[in-house]
Amino acid sequence: MKLSEKVAIVTGAAQGIGLATATAMAEAGARVVLVDRNATAVTAAADNLAVRGLTARPCVIDITSPSANRQMVEKALEVFGRVDIFHANAGVAPFHDLLASSELDVANTVDVNLVGAIHGCAAVLPVMTSQKQGVILLTASIAAFVGDPSVPVYSATKGGLVALCKSLAVRHGPDGIRCNTICPGDVATTMLESYLARESDPAAARREMESRYPLRRLAEPADIAKLAVFLCSDDAAWITGADYVIDGGLTARCY
Ligand SMILES: NC(=O)c1ccc[n+]([C@@H]2O[C@H](COP(=O)([O-])OP(=O)(O)OC[C@H]3O[C@@H](n4cnc5c(N)ncnc54)[C@H](O)[C@@H]3O)[C@@H](O)[C@H]2O)c1
Repeated sequence: MKLSEKVAIVTGAAQGIGLATATAMAEAGARVVLVDRNATAVTAAADNLAVRGLTARPCVIDITSPSANRQMVEKALEVFGRVDIFHANAGVAPFHDLLASSELDVANTVDVNLVGAIHGCAAVLPVMTSQKQGVILLTASIAAFVGDPSVPVYSATKGGLVALCKSLAVRHGPDGIRCNTICPGDVATTMLESYLARESDPAAARREMESRYPLRRLAEPADIAKLAVFLCSDDAAWITGADYVIDGGLTARCY
């Protein structure tokens, strides 16, 4: 299996893309620590994997805390003895015009999406450096590259992750550590549902959104998880410092 012998930490793993990735990694042979602030959901998610004979443990933290990120890594080391993969995926997406964003919203979005990922990387890097091996994957977004008028602060955090990725890839390549981003378009998760729910007719808004995609559908979390597994596997051994747009052709479109 692609990820046999690997130990993976996935944040935002209680649902959506993180849950799909944690599941796909476990199915590919990894032992997985599922991290989320939603204690009930992440514990149920890890239990569901364990019931299927897969190796998974929950870890309840808020990723905005540096010490909590260190506890997350200590837990992985205590239970599984190493950390080969860190997927910094947890995120929030308040949909606001900048003029309508409160200071609290701005600070929270930056804290979770960017600062939280930085703290996570800082917590895993000493372990990966001492192992002389590791893979970091950051969930960014196509919003890092193209303008989405409804999420200015979110877009800025995702652009920050793209820059973080390149810096870490260059600095830690000699330590045997790879770092890449995945940049999805619209994925059918709770985050997307909350965006559509703002519309007067959410079903019509979804159909309109789907019609903009050359493949005429939105991504499912499993579509993203397959790319994540590949990028974290040894099949991607020559890939680092790269951004993987996975958007069903949306940003290829001009007309
Ligand atoms: N859904 C999309 O269309 C889409 C598109 C591009 C990128 N993304 C990115 O993919 C990632 C996952 O998104 P999703 O759609 O699965 O979202 P989601 O809302 O379904 O899941 C996000 C998870 O992150 C957890 N989380 C949020 N803040 C946290 C914190 N401070 N500490 C710990 N856990 C926290 C939540 O509890 C939740 O389980 C995010 O980074 C998002 O920006 C999503």
